[in-house]
Amino acid sequence: MEWKKDNRTYKILSDAEKGGYGVVAPIAYNIECILAFIRAAEAKRAPLIIQVFPWALTYSDGLLVHAAAKAARDASVPVAIHLDHAQDADLIRHVAATLPFDSIMVDMSHYEMAENLAKTKELVAFCNAHRICTEAEPGRIEGGEDGIADTADLEGALTTPEQVDDFVATGIDFLAPAFGNVHGEYGARGPVLEYDRLAAIRAKLSAGASSSKEASNVRIVLHGTNDFAEDVMKRCIQGGCSKINVNKLVLDDYLVYMKTQAATASLTTFMEEGTKAIQKLMEWQMDVTGSAGKA
Ligand code: 13P
Repeated sequence: MEWKKDNRTYKILSDAEKGGYGVVAPIAYNIECILAFIRAAEAKRAPLIIQVFPWALTYSDGLLVHAAAKAARDASVPVAIHLDHAQDADLIRHVAATLPFDSIMVDMSHYEMAENLAKTKELVAFCNAHRICTEAEPGRIEGGEDGIADTADLEGALTTPEQVDDFVATGIDFLAPAFGNVHGEYGARGPVLEYDRLAAIRAKLSAGASSSKEASNVRIVLHGTNDFAEDVMKRCIQGGCSKINVNKLVLDDYLVYMKTQAATASLTTFMEEGTKAIQKLMEWQMDVTGSAGKA
């Protein structure tokens, strides 16, 4: 599929794989987020993948995605727009045909495996017909998120190397394994990750690669990075993760700022200072993931 070489997410992550760094992929909830993400990327000369949850589509009828896509087009560094955790087949078909996404996570992980695979395959073909690349989740990453349909009660299931082959066969471009990572909060114990499992998954992907120059044609996506210490993040990137999904990790200071300043700051100051708080943590993560200076 020749068009994939021009797809922004595909290109950004191919370069990351070759360069051995991770690309920060934060979740945008409002204009402050979009401004902060782009400003951080330009200040750090880093590639960027802006994500939205399906919530943003229904809340703003796609307006936030158009704003993010315009900001991406105008940016002086490579920026892609991605829909994270799209769990509804009708929504995927609708937005793939109507909104400017570069890539979509076809998340059918709430179905049993055979149905997950069948639905993923069909939706990957639909997205590809619209020149949109795709991500999927073999196994099931535990936990839930504000902004994704409530599937938090479903039991998590770690990704097996065998599932990797099945998912690669559906035609996906990016694979989000479950290897101990959890959505939402980790609690006092912190993340307990199975790096051996990640290595086995990467080895499977490499074995299936068609080009000897690249480790694999399918990139690995890291989900569930709340509370990740710098060394944990770096170890995951060394283990082959290229797309680094971050949510509260880069929004924490913004959330604290909002809670403490809402009663006193003027609305314009509130928005500007909030934007700065997000930009600062984004720049930090661009340093941690090694993407700073790569654009
Ligand atoms: P969490 O770290 O909150 O799970 O968010 C990042 C992510 O994986 C979103 O898909």
